[in-house]
Amino acid sequence: MSIVNRQWHLQARPKGLLVPGDLQLAEAPVPALAEGQALARVRYLSMDPTMRMWMADVQLYMPPVALGDVMRSFGFAEIVESRHPQYQKGDKIIGLTGLQDYVLIDASAKSQFQKIPPVPFVSDTAFLGVLGITGITAYFGMMDIAKPQKGETLVVSAAAGATGSIAGQIGKIHGCRVIGIAGGEDKCKWLTQDLGFDAAVDYKRPDWKEALATATPKGIDINYENVGGEIMHTVLSRMNLHGRVVLCGLISGYTKEDPALASFSNVLLKRLRVQGFIVLDYADRYVEAATQLGKWKVFGKLKDRETLLEGLEKVPDAINMLFTGGNTGKLIVKL
Ligand SMILES: NC(=O)c1ccc[n+]([C@@H]2O[C@H](COP(=O)([O-])OP(=O)(O)OC[C@H]3O[C@@H](n4cnc5c(N)ncnc54)[C@H](OP(=O)(O)O)[C@@H]3O)[C@@H](O)[C@H]2O)c1
Repeated sequence: MSIVNRQWHLQARPKGLLVPGDLQLAEAPVPALAEGQALARVRYLSMDPTMRMWMADVQLYMPPVALGDVMRSFGFAEIVESRHPQYQKGDKIIGLTGLQDYVLIDASAKSQFQKIPPVPFVSDTAFLGVLGITGITAYFGMMDIAKPQKGETLVVSAAAGATGSIAGQIGKIHGCRVIGIAGGEDKCKWLTQDLGFDAAVDYKRPDWKEALATATPKGIDINYENVGGEIMHTVLSRMNLHGRVVLCGLISGYTKEDPALASFSNVLLKRLRVQGFIVLDYADRYVEAATQLGKWKVFGKLKDRETLLEGLEKVPDAINMLFTGGNTGKLIVKL
């Protein structure tokens, strides 16, 4: 019996949030495996803000997804059949699975996938979150770029998200005073009561700028920036001379034409060191990051949370949740 593969194709380039028709669900038969190929069943899809950028017709660190193609995404999959020398049935892998039920792997695509060794007490989904791309991004942004020192003040935006929540905790591990900026009371409570942040600022409250000032009486030494726009400008205005800005993401601009960086004068006047980075720059050091993150997690120094949706058909709603703040921690779709 032939297997049917459900796939989300990019049909139109979204203007703001995704609307029906931007992605289209279609079915395709899975072809019989040729020598050198393997078939993996996708178990979990990672929802990442960068997917929205891949949908736009702009050249970034990866080419845009072509209209009509299966939408690119990271995912966690399990080999169900193999004629590939490097994979056996039951192997678990992570990589660019795409938004679909099954992914066909051939020799040319082998570098896109990484085998996951069995690790006791670690869930499969952790390899998409705290031990996956978002945890690893936070690790390199903090350890290689921010280089946090005891007593410094760190401000993290989108702090209750997958990357921000880990970046802030790495700041705590290194003795920083950590302030998270997040949308809503529940997220702010999670940051201070569960994750040990020193303060949290709810940017949806009208007085959030005063709250940020109160929470940072000695100014800000490190800004781990995930949002851009007004949040970034406000944080930059409170930076200390020679502070460091880790430019990880600018999510407030991903659904707009506005590049979200209208004015950069604080960088000049305060002699800030600003560094952007893409986690792919660190591909040859992922094992180092995952090992350290894993140790912190096992020793209780790092907590993580996931927001899980069930069903491939939920993907468009899930992508939009990243831009409306519907997730806390890592957002994952379970298939
Ligand atoms: N440089 C890299 O290699 C790299 C790798 C991974 C991720 N990133 C970046 O890291 C950032 C976080 O990504 P993630 O995967 O960890 O997602 P996430 O933080 O788990 O989810 C996105 C969060 O951003 C917040 N947000 C969305 N729109 C906002 C707006 N207009 N103003 C303020 N907050 C907004 C929402 O939380 P609230 O409820 O708090 O609004 C939402 O939950 C993104 O900018 C992403 O592009 C960069």
